Amino acid sequence: MTRTIKLDETIEVSRPINEAFAYISEFSRIEEWDPAVARGTRLTEGALGVGSEFRIDMKAGFSLHYTVIAWEPERRLLMRVDSKAFTAVEEILFTATNTGTRIQYIATFKFPTALGLIANAFPGLMDRVGKSAVAGMKRALDDQMSAPLASRSVALGDKLLLPGLFGFTRLGYRRARKQWNPVSAYLGDCHVLITGATSGLGLATAEVLAARGAELTLVARDGVKAKRIAKALTKKTGNARIHIEIAELSLLAEVNALADRLLKAGRPIDVLINNAGALINPRTVTSEGLEKSFALLLLSPYLLTERLYPLLKVKPGGRVINVLSGGMYSQGIHLDDLQNAKGKYSGSVAYARAKRGLMMLTTEWAKRWQADGIAVNAMHPGWADTPGVESSLPAFHRVTKKLLRTPAEGADTIIWLATATEAAKVSGEFWLDRQPHPAHVLAHTQESVEDRQALIKALSKLVAMPQQ
Ligand SMILES: NC(=O)c1ccc[n+]([C@@H]2O[C@H](COP(=O)([O-])OP(=O)(O)OC[C@H]3O[C@@H](n4cnc5c(N)ncnc54)[C@H](OP(=O)(O)O)[C@@H]3O)[C@@H](O)[C@H]2O)c1
Repeated sequence: MTRTIKLDETIEVSRPINEAFAYISEFSRIEEWDPAVARGTRLTEGALGVGSEFRIDMKAGFSLHYTVIAWEPERRLLMRVDSKAFTAVEEILFTATNTGTRIQYIATFKFPTALGLIANAFPGLMDRVGKSAVAGMKRALDDQMSAPLASRSVALGDKLLLPGLFGFTRLGYRRARKQWNPVSAYLGDCHVLITGATSGLGLATAEVLAARGAELTLVARDGVKAKRIAKALTKKTGNARIHIEIAELSLLAEVNALADRLLKAGRPIDVLINNAGALINPRTVTSEGLEKSFALLLLSPYLLTERLYPLLKVKPGGRVINVLSGGMYSQGIHLDDLQNAKGKYSGSVAYARAKRGLMMLTTEWAKRWQADGIAVNAMHPGWADTPGVESSLPAFHRVTKKLLRTPAEGADTIIWLATATEAAKVSGEFWLDRQPHPAHVLAHTQESVEDRQALIKALSKLVAMPQQ
């Protein structure tokens, strides 16, 4: 004997049908809109369709296994649900309306007798669960979120060392994510260029953006590794629009050649993610005679971004995301020693100064490109367990391993800045965990407007490029 309970809810959302279908059919993202869900995971590889499977972990402590049994793009999704407690069939129907899309959600649950009796005893419970799920779906798809504002308590926490450092850990990430909004933006017409996409945060970013359907250009220095990664991303996500560009980014000639190729191809760039980076010890000078930390972490993103500006402003709403580091808090810019030649060289100091320089560029670009509608933001990932951290800071990695974030957790704010509708409305900020943070916590690191202009002048001179 089984007991059957049926839910049937309809909502109207102000989104085109292709966008509504794309978001809802990537069913692991249910964790963003159904308040009863703790975590959604896609279990199968390749393009979504009949046979795709998801594990949905409920906050109540049990899991559901979803299998797609009918897949009619922009029309209908049918899924079988298996769990220890019940089975169900969920059908989601999509209809275009004058103002967006109507979505009908029909779920038929079959409970074994004992649980059916419990369900009978709480007749409104299942109904409420269904209603709150579709209300969450509507909120996600209507996409009217506002970007978080800078907060005094966050700034104070950063100034007090321990709360600030707690925020860098995986615990900080977990605390922050409780406040986050869904991101349902459609990426099918979005082209994202990511530097350093072959490892760590860049790779984690590429994985998520590929799964959400963005067209990607991965900039890498190692062609064999890049090809392997692009192939693996296509296999995992079903996204074949993944291009590779090879450039050793510490060399200006290679950055220029990369920019030449991209400009010649003329594909507009919606999002540029300046992520490639390394902590370099001992002091190294490139074949072009430049100190390598400075060349890779500051001069290269300066040149690449300036040169790609024509492609960033083609479509409204271009975005630049500069991946910085919390280490930047310890250093101000040294305009008289940009290449770290004075005194004893420290890779960590050179790294932090270059990141500081990129923050200064973020501030200036945000102002300068406001009229073009380009949002320029910087972020730092906290402390994430990436190959880069393990190889360049082995002792730190050993001691903090249990507190480090996964690469995906570290990359979350890059992805949010690249995709969230509300993130495009803010420019010139420094973010951690989708929250703006102060760019300075120490008085001695502050720079003036003149310092920022002097920096740009020095960089433009080194790359022999006229200032825009
Ligand atoms: N992980 C953290 O906790 C953390 C904290 C603060 C800031 N960050 C920043 O996050 C960014 C990503 O770091 P990650 O931790 O993900 O490190 P990672 O695992 O070492 O990845 C770095 C990426 O940059 C590429 N790269 C390095 N040097 C390059 C060069 N000269 N030319 C072209 N590409 C180059 C690497 O290519 P290969 O694959 O060929 O090596 C790789 O794809 C960096 O900007 C880093 O400063 C990370």
